[in-house]
Amino acid sequence: MNSTEWDERYREADRLWSAEPNLFVADRLGPVDPGVGLDFASGEGRNAIWLAERGWSMTAVDFSEVATERGRERSKGVDFVPADVMTWEPSQAFDLILIAYLHLVASDLEHVVLRAASWLEAGGEIFLIGHDRSNIERGHGGPQVPEILWQVDLLLEWLSDLEVIEAQVVRRPLDVEGETVFARDALVRARASS
Ligand SMILES: C[S@@+](CC[C@H](N)C(=O)[O-])C[C@H]1O[C@@H](n2cnc3c(N)ncnc32)[C@H](O)[C@@H]1O
Repeated sequence: MNSTEWDERYREADRLWSAEPNLFVADRLGPVDPGVGLDFASGEGRNAIWLAERGWSMTAVDFSEVATERGRERSKGVDFVPADVMTWEPSQAFDLILIAYLHLVASDLEHVVLRAASWLEAGGEIFLIGHDRSNIERGHGGPQVPEILWQVDLLLEWLSDLEVIEAQVVRRPLDVEGETVFARDALVRARASS
């Protein structure tokens, strides 16, 4: 989807994603000491805003003007930047770079992940969470196009220069009509050498 299509999707609802951070972002990053962070393809900023509230100095980049404007209205504590993650360049390095549920064909995702990893401070962390390819057959919700779904092994291959903190398929509970079902997400955390 291009930025115009994403803008249209955002306009269909007052809030497209939850106000709360992603479950695994909150669980894994809650105990991490704050620093300078980037939420890449941030959407309305649920994760960036939550991190900023915990002391992180956050930049949030997304090419949807509707989503970034919404984020700006919700938090003055995050620098929301409307820009394309394929081409945007930072002016600083980061202690944390988060990419959550950015679904692109593998060659484009690789480009984004490699660029992001190159902006890490020594000892900084890249945190990747997205719908796993196995979610189509064994999970719930999310895009149903295998070519844009994530695979832990591929992410690890791209990040082979980094130290792996965690890499696995995780189950995320969803409430569907009062019943708990599970989505399957690929979660990879890796650290740049100090
Ligand atoms: C499924 S949403 C996830 C948003 C957010 N990361 C979250 O977890 O709430 C995917 C986001 O990626 C953004 N996006 C997709 N392609 C992009 C690109 N090339 N540059 C910047 N943002 C992009 C969309 O605008 C959308 O906000």
